Amino acid sequence: MSDQKDSAERKRSENVTWHDSAVTREAREERRGHRGAVLWFTGLSASGKSTLAVEVEKRLFAHGYFSYVLDGDNIRHGLNGDLGFTPDDRMENIRRVGEVAKLFAESGALVLTAFISPYRRDRDRVRSLVNRPTDFVEIHVSCPVEVCEARDPKGLYKKARAGEIPNFTGIDAPYELPEVAELTVETNIHDVDACAEQVMEFLRDNGYISNEPRLHAVGG
Ligand code: ADX
Repeated sequence: MSDQKDSAERKRSENVTWHDSAVTREAREERRGHRGAVLWFTGLSASGKSTLAVEVEKRLFAHGYFSYVLDGDNIRHGLNGDLGFTPDDRMENIRRVGEVAKLFAESGALVLTAFISPYRRDRDRVRSLVNRPTDFVEIHVSCPVEVCEARDPKGLYKKARAGEIPNFTGIDAPYELPEVAELTVETNIHDVDACAEQVMEFLRDNGYISNEPRLHAVGG
């Protein structure tokens, strides 16, 4: 895999100047009544990242929080449709998503990202990219590969075993376990409701969302 200088080498923009917004992040957060952050779900294919991110978003939305899910399969339909699954392409996938997620957090959103993001270094790069250390919440969606393979909702493990998908994470491509995850949820032990509640509890306990019921909460 190439090292970090790859993204520097890729950089072609010159003579560009940062232009500040007249509206600060603090003002945006004040208006919305909560802070922005990136909730970074990482784990094997079929571990339950997307299901869980969607479930947590549903809860946040029902309580009136500004939230949005960026999902690996969905983003690869558009923005990252030009990327495959080599280590370099995955690195670029996560780099772009990290930049987008950072913008969402700056806009005051609780953005939930559901990407395998199998390389620790790529996840750590996003962690150091965001503006505040607490902006990046790494959530390991843990599930043994045998269980993911037995679930196989898209039939991809079967194809990978048959040699039809090279570099499939967990089969012939690595997944590097998080060392510093803020939270681990075990989807082979707990159902999606319990895991979503675990995430909500973490967000409440750590001041990302309020302990009090919010006014103007909208129906879920
Ligand atoms: S990542 O590794 O670059 O973070 P991402 O989350 O965007 O991956 O996309 C993973 C999804 O792509 C999987 O859920 C699966 O549907 C599909 N996919 C296709 N090929 C592969 C592969 N070789 N390894 C893993 N997932 C793959």
